[in-house]
Amino acid sequence: MEGPIGIFDSGVGGLTVAREVFKILPAEAVVYFGDVGRSPYGGRSKEIIAQFTAQDVAFLTEHRVKFVICACNTASAVALHEVAGRHCVPMVGVIEPGARAAAARTRAGRVGVIGTTATINSDAYARTIRGIDPAVKVFSVACPLFVPLAEEGYIEREATRLIARDYLKTMRDVGIDTLILGCTHYPLLRSVIAEAMGDGVALIDSGEETARAARDALVAGGLLRGGEAPGEHTFYVSDVPEKFTQVAARFLGTMIDRVTRVDISRY
Ligand code: DGL
Repeated sequence: MEGPIGIFDSGVGGLTVAREVFKILPAEAVVYFGDVGRSPYGGRSKEIIAQFTAQDVAFLTEHRVKFVICACNTASAVALHEVAGRHCVPMVGVIEPGARAAAARTRAGRVGVIGTTATINSDAYARTIRGIDPAVKVFSVACPLFVPLAEEGYIEREATRLIARDYLKTMRDVGIDTLILGCTHYPLLRSVIAEAMGDGVALIDSGEETARAARDALVAGGLLRGGEAPGEHTFYVSDVPEKFTQVAARFLGTMIDRVTRVDISRY
């Protein structure tokens, strides 16, 4: 089916999800919206996150998207369910795919979740995992400093290793065997997180899982775009695009040439 997929995030982080979508759904056109002007969402209240999420979705629906992917863990955890209920466009967030993958993966029935403060406070991952398998024990820790570290390119740095070891100490102590990277930025810090957790802990990338869930939903809904021609990718942001373009190069591994600024307060 023609019509683009809409992907939104609080900013640039959702490009880690977009990257996976581009990889496994190359024929799909994608409209990406990054709310860089109001990012980060992770330390904000439920009410504000719900208002921003509603505006982000309204912007995408104006582009006649056939499907919406909420790449932002914070928006998915706090507001997506309510906002999705007000639209007839099908939507998927990152929580359920990540939770499903973790519940299927754990052998010991002990899963860790890391994310922004709002994501962890919402308890959305833990609730979803318990809904899938009530026997699984979930341990959650907020790691807010990982977001600026990833955006500033502090990947293989000693400072990042120290912070990761400190944040993840309790995770190590409780003996999880599976850890959900419950924030768009964390896949970029994967090696540092893996090092801090030590061997024997499987890392679940919610973005990767979500791209697969989106593909399954498109197939099931008869919404897949046929043909061999690569889909067009269009990018919109809510503030000056320069920083987005710079950080996007690191997140996507390629340069984005055209990014349009929009006034999200109109939605
Ligand atoms: N995109 C957010 C998330 O995945 C991280 C950045 C933010 O706090 O807005 O939770």
